[in-house]
Parts: sequence; structure tokens; C-alpha cells
Amino acid sequence: MLSLEELDEIARLCERWDVTVISDEVYAGLVFDGRAHLSVMDVPGLRDRSIVIGSLSKSLAISGWRLGYLRAAPPRTAVLRRVHEVTSNGTAAPLQYAAGHAGLITGEHWQPALDLAARRDVAQQIFGDLGFTFQPAQGGCFLLADISAVTTADCHDYVRRMLEESAVLVVPATPFFADRERGSKYVRIAFNRTLDTLRAAERNLSR
Ligand SMILES: Cc1ncc(COP(=O)(O)O)c(C=O)c1O
Repeated sequence: MLSLEELDEIARLCERWDVTVISDEVYAGLVFDGRAHLSVMDVPGLRDRSIVIGSLSKSLAISGWRLGYLRAAPPRTAVLRRVHEVTSNGTAAPLQYAAGHAGLITGEHWQPALDLAARRDVAQQIFGDLGFTFQPAQGGCFLLADISAVTTADCHDYVRRMLEESAVLVVPATPFFADRERGSKYVRIAFNRTLDTLRAAERNLSR
């Protein structure tokens, strides 16, 4: 997670180069260990030049509904509303009502972070024991893990072999890196699975 100092530094650079910030904050509610999510909207130098993206896929775990939202200063939302009108033209009304009842409007959010932190702990133990190295996840639902201590293979080959031999699927991380060569030593592990599923993966990987 970015600190206030890092966001201040980003603000200084954006002011200098007159840059608009599009901040994907879909995991804002999924932060662990007592941390607080800091939005670009909390940083004075960024507030008026930012567009913050949220997704009910994450905050309410309803990814199939395809519902999201954004926050920005009025001059930006005026333009973005027009884009919305001529593209999706709004989302299905029953889904909007359902999302409202689920707490988005009332503020009675579902709070899954504690549960997810426990799953993170289990995933970190499983893949740490395998020899993967990673920064502990401070939020979200993924570990970005370095596999170079356990294999010389490219992440695509390694992932394919893990799937075939253990029926455990992680994601090759090359798309997350500008430098493909560097990314080829990383995989992305999703820990938003049940504890039973994570333990089944552990059993398969130890066979
Ligand atoms: C960081 C991040 N932003 C956005 C999305 C997309 O969410 P949506 O389901 O609303 O398309 C994802 C989905 O995994 C994500 O990980």
C-alpha cells in the first residue's frame, strides 16, 4: 500500500507535469492488520486531478454483476457521465436496487477483510513453505511471488506444470511487468478462496 509520503511525492510530480490520476482503488475495503486505506482523494494535491475507481465486484463480492463506480471532481464527472450515457447507458435497474440494499447507499458495508486476512495468512504459509518469496499482502487478494528460488523455468512453464501435477492454478505474472523477462520469474496467487480450498491446494502441492 502506498504511504502518505509516497502519495505526496506523486502529487508533486502530477502538479509539475499537469497529470490526471486514475486511481484503481477497488480493494479499498480489503486492507489488513489494522491499516487504513489512503485514497488519492485524501491528498490535497491530488483530490482535484484524480478519478477514483471502485468496483462492487470486490467490495460486495459480486463480480458477475459488472457494477462499478467512480469519484471525481464535478468538471470531470460531467464529461464522464456523458461517456457513460453513450456507452453502457446505465446498468440494469434491478441490480442498482439490489446493490443499494446490499449496503452501498446505507453505508452498512459487508466487512470481509478479517476473514480474507486469515486466508492470506494460510496462503503465505503454504507458498512460503514451498520456497516462493513475496512481500506479505497488506491488502487486496493476491500475492505476487518470486519463484526463482524454486525453479529456473519461465513462469508460464512452471504454472502449466503445477496445474498438471498438482491441479493448483496460479497466474503467470508477465502481464504485470513492463519488463517481460523480469516478470517471467513471478506468479500471482489469489487467496480469496475458502480455507478448505487452500488446504486442498497445500495437500496437492505436497504430494
Ligand atoms: C486491481 C483491480 N482493479 C479492477 C479489477 C476489475 O474489477 P471488475 O470486476 O469491476 O471489472 C480487478 C479485478 O480483478 C482488479 O484486481
